[in-house]
Amino acid sequence: MNSVTDANTIRVAVNGYGVIGKRVAAAVALQGDMSLAGVSDVVTDWRAGMATRNGFRLFGATSEHASGMRAAGLEVAGTLDDLLGQADLVVDCTPKGVSAKNIDGYRRRGLKFIVQGGEKHEATGHSFVAEANYASALGREATRVVSCNTTSIVRTLTALKRAGLLRRARGTLLRRATDPWESHVSGIMNTLVPEPEIPSHQSRDAQTVDPDLDVVTMAVKVPETLAHLHYWSVQMTRRASQDEVLDAFRASSRIALIRISDGLVALNTVKELMADRGRPNDNLYEVALWADMLSVQGDELFYAYMVDNQAIVIPETIDAIRALTGLVHDAHESIARTNTALGIETLFA
Ligand SMILES: NC(=O)c1ccc[n+]([C@@H]2O[C@H](COP(=O)([O-])OP(=O)(O)OC[C@H]3O[C@@H](n4cnc5c(N)ncnc54)[C@H](O)[C@@H]3O)[C@@H](O)[C@H]2O)c1
Repeated sequence: MNSVTDANTIRVAVNGYGVIGKRVAAAVALQGDMSLAGVSDVVTDWRAGMATRNGFRLFGATSEHASGMRAAGLEVAGTLDDLLGQADLVVDCTPKGVSAKNIDGYRRRGLKFIVQGGEKHEATGHSFVAEANYASALGREATRVVSCNTTSIVRTLTALKRAGLLRRARGTLLRRATDPWESHVSGIMNTLVPEPEIPSHQSRDAQTVDPDLDVVTMAVKVPETLAHLHYWSVQMTRRASQDEVLDAFRASSRIALIRISDGLVALNTVKELMADRGRPNDNLYEVALWADMLSVQGDELFYAYMVDNQAIVIPETIDAIRALTGLVHDAHESIARTNTALGIETLFA
């Protein structure tokens, strides 16, 4: 079994250098207590080329893929097998369904591993959101960082729960149709596609992190690519003021309170702000919740927020690495380290 070496520096391999993998790799490289052993993929075009251009060691998923990369003129450090031999932990960011097939290989090596939200809870037996259940991931062999929507649900409802305000929550999710860079391949136009089941799968998924959440979601796919938009109606445990609720959300460093009155009137304006703030890939790591839209009527609460599906799981993945390897025992300490490295700070006072 690989051990955590180099004066508490965790060597991380990233398998799958796509939408999530390239962001995870870049985030790992920014952490003072981690090093990126390398990234592995199957493609041979500009996407793999960007890994070496970014200074990351590139590995082929198999020797055939490594040969293909070399034939395409890419500098290749070896195969996934070589990469795994140089890592303490692997973050699997391959497409839904592929990760599940890789798990046996990780286990045979005694490697700790993280899968992403496309996989089922049963793949690892543990589902992770840093602010909710960091402690239960400590020292485990593996965890699953839940999907973008589920991460946002657990973050926000955990904040309300910690403040003693949450009784039950009902949410409607407007889901982006596809990721921007794949808009030429798939996506929908001139229609809305409801998810066939109520509750939609996201609320059941949130309960894999916190089984006590009384939550129901309904979801519809919408013809845009930037981010998801959630509308929530929450039955609180008692009457509370708007300020009290906002303070509950403020207690989470990964919920950013934004305001329509600041000109942040739509998803694209928030993404533009992230670009102007110099965030890599315009990443919005936080749940961006509209403070001036939030409304309280007695013991009922209503609010809406934006989820940058490509970015929100990145800080969670970094914290999951610290939890599994046991490098940092305290959730707040890990979250603070991750936030500092990624530039997650108060967007507005
Ligand atoms: N895209 C999102 O918004 C998003 C958000 C949260 C979670 N996730 C989850 O993250 C995971 C990855 O999704 P993604 O959107 O990054 O996918 P993606 O298709 O953008 O990236 C997957 C990468 O893996 C590579 N790959 C394919 N087969 C491989 C193999 N056998 N070995 C190594 N590499 C291989 C692909 O070439 C690609 O570069 C999925 O579980 C997904 O559900 C995605």
